Amino acid sequence: MPELVIGNVPRGEDYFGQEHLIERIWSNLEKDNVLLVAPRRFGKTGAMYNLLDFPRGSYIPLYIDVAYINSAADFIVELIAKLIKQRHFLRLAKELWTGTKKFGKFLRDLPGGLDFGGIKVEIREKTDVKDRWLDYGEQIKSLLTKGDKPLLLIIDEFPIMANNILNKNVEEAKQLLHWFRALRTARETKARFVIGGSINLVSTLEYKGLVDTINDISIIRLKPFPAETAQKYIEEIFLAQKIELTGAVKETILETLGEPIPYLLAVLLKAILDRVKILRCEMTPGIVLEAFDEDLLGGSTSAVFQHYRSRIDQYYFDLEGRAAKEILGIMSRADNPVKKDTLFQVYLKTGNLSPGVQSREDFLRLMNKLGNDFYLKPHSRGGAISRFAAGSAFDLKSQDNTYAFYSRVLKIWWKTHYGWDYKDDEKER
Ligand SMILES: Nc1ncnc2c1ncn2[C@@H]1O[C@H](COP(=O)(O)OP(=O)(O)O)[C@@H](O)[C@H]1O
Ligand SMILES: [Mg+2]
Repeated sequence: MPELVIGNVPRGEDYFGQEHLIERIWSNLEKDNVLLVAPRRFGKTGAMYNLLDFPRGSYIPLYIDVAYINSAADFIVELIAKLIKQRHFLRLAKELWTGTKKFGKFLRDLPGGLDFGGIKVEIREKTDVKDRWLDYGEQIKSLLTKGDKPLLLIIDEFPIMANNILNKNVEEAKQLLHWFRALRTARETKARFVIGGSINLVSTLEYKGLVDTINDISIIRLKPFPAETAQKYIEEIFLAQKIELTGAVKETILETLGEPIPYLLAVLLKAILDRVKILRCEMTPGIVLEAFDEDLLGGSTSAVFQHYRSRIDQYYFDLEGRAAKEILGIMSRADNPVKKDTLFQVYLKTGNLSPGVQSREDFLRLMNKLGNDFYLKPHSRGGAISRFAAGSAFDLKSQDNTYAFYSRVLKIWWKTHYGWDYKDDEKER
């Protein structure tokens, strides 16, 4: 039975449901490489660890988190260290570099039993990988064509690294991105890649004119739990805790939460179970509502919501950023989905623009970006939430003309923290 995991990576039994997602990733990997897209705490790393813990075929999966890397050379050091820590790839590396005095000797002399950090230190201190990262990168390309067991390289938070390097040195980022594309698409390569990220790689690269460096990757957008999975998860968690679950409690949990984003569901479940244990009271819908207000909207989850806010400051530039804040402020205060035209007027006003083809196009691009980044979603006329077409970008034209926050919880949080900002502005106008 699963146990609640809050914040850490859920593994084994604790990684619940998501069979479709995992199937889809493996099936895409037959032909393509995969980019997993979702905001923080949506379950990307959990999915990646599932690939790592239960590899298929003859893949050897390796996982690296590159969020803290900000140079191409450091990325190559990280990658080589990870490869040579693994017996199979160490053997291939020794064969590949056997003729070379420096790196071949380094590999032969490398003490056994070093941990990952230790290997990185050795590479930095005893080799010229840092100075000649691109040459070594080319060698890795040929390494990955050899052997009978293909590499499945799982790279977490790749877009953060790409952005770090872009901010520091565009030329270096370009070289790395082009090398990496060539590595993925090399005709003889056996390796496959799964890349994950909490920020939008496509729009980050689009802004720098570099989107063609990832046009070979198939994008998978993570979704919240389907309704049945969410229900089953609640049931199993209650069962494991030996606490009786009434239909009313289950419904209240699902209703207050809106889209069952696994992390928010886990936090809410932990909060209500803790309350019942500490207060020794009965589990009632009232307890769920109290926990929702006091624990979910405040507490440690606030940092996750704050991430949505700061992502705008970091990745939405100039008018885009200002208009995004206005639009989200207005949507957070609205009781119902807001009309596209109303939001377009907000956009024009924020930018002091007049309506026209260009301003409409820019507005639509912004709405598209906010959709892709999980802030909002089109709301269909029947009241049901329209699902995004699998894997495809958020397509405004095919949707109805109103928008709502993607997550009910984020909407309430936004209103509490940033809704007033705009209300006061409006009064002044
Ligand atoms: N399939 C799942 N089963 C159970 N909990 C999950 C699942 N997916 C996500 N979670 C919850 O979300 C949190 C964040 O998951 P994680 O994989 O680290 O997300 P991300 O990498 O997108 O930030 C976990 O600590 C857990 O509370
Ligand atoms: Mg993660």
